[in-house]
Amino acid sequence: MPRVFSGIQPTGEPHIGNYFGAMRNYVNLGEEYGKNSLYCVVDLHAITNPAAFDPQRLAQRTFEMAVANFAVGLDPQKVTFFVQSHVPEHQELSWIFTTLTPVGELERMTQYKDKSAQLESVPAGLLMYPALMAADILLYKADTVPVGEDQTQHIELTREIARKFNHAFGETFPEPRAVYNRDALRIPGVDGNGKMGKSKGETSTIGILEPLDSIWQKLRVAPTDPARVRRTDPGDPEKCLIGDYHKLFSDLDTIELVYAGCRTAGIGCIDCKKKLMEGVTAHLTPIQARAEDFKADPDFVRDAIAQGAREARALAQPIMEEVREKVGFLKL
Ligand code: AMP
Ligand code: TRP
Repeated sequence: MPRVFSGIQPTGEPHIGNYFGAMRNYVNLGEEYGKNSLYCVVDLHAITNPAAFDPQRLAQRTFEMAVANFAVGLDPQKVTFFVQSHVPEHQELSWIFTTLTPVGELERMTQYKDKSAQLESVPAGLLMYPALMAADILLYKADTVPVGEDQTQHIELTREIARKFNHAFGETFPEPRAVYNRDALRIPGVDGNGKMGKSKGETSTIGILEPLDSIWQKLRVAPTDPARVRRTDPGDPEKCLIGDYHKLFSDLDTIELVYAGCRTAGIGCIDCKKKLMEGVTAHLTPIQARAEDFKADPDFVRDAIAQGAREARALAQPIMEEVREKVGFLKL
């Protein structure tokens, strides 16, 4: 039976990049693999980047990240959903993995390079981030990891760490593979500045729980195909982030209509954005309503997360036993 693992950081509001890139796959794989699919709010990862870490709000964001995942359709009764810091074995395995991972490899990670370049003083934990991520996955011997394309390098390193451990201590871990949503590998930010990302701030993101009028304010001023200077200039929807978003939110008829309208200058960008907003509204309204229901019942959410941690630990503990023995720690 394959085992699925993925993690999401509670560093900010979940956005449509997270949703289409990763969370929708959590739901689909959850339907298929049930309790053998594990989803984790990775608060230990969130504290590695001082630029994105806000101790006053971490607990609240962790809670809201759980709510958002339940609201998009992840059922905590069917899958294993928990918070990373509630399962201390993640840190224990992570330490062992740091001893197998060359510093040079960690320094080559593009996400590390991007984040550390913005900091005056780089915490060692930011460098170790991928070893903790490898521990998240391998602690459950998971082999399937739904993520966005930006995580490819980290998954590749996880495979290397698994190989190294197996070589040093005997066959233990599988070599996990990433699974992507082919239609949402790298969703662009609404400000036109590259990938949509939580760490890039609110101007870049469209939150799945963001009020619809606030989303519209962002879409209204979002850049479109720069070749379309005047209303009468034809545009290329393939070079427009609104065109990209239509592929996520609109039905095929609407996509055909706005794509043709753009190429012939038959419709203006604001009309096209209004059409997009219809799709956004249809998509997000039920999700936001469910989120309100969960927020109104915090005990349900807390109980679900507590139960998830018990389930995750029950899977992790025998694997950690095996690891301790193979590494050669004294057993009493
Ligand atoms: P993070 O917000 O970094 O914790 O990311 C959570 C998940 O969403 C990861 O699997 C990311 O790869 C994915 N993800 C984040 N941003 C995007 C994006 N702009 N497009 C597609 N997937 C994304
Ligand atoms: N690094 C991932 C991100 O930023 C989050 C993450 C932590 C993760 N541990 C994981 C993803 C394990 C998949 C599997 O998106």
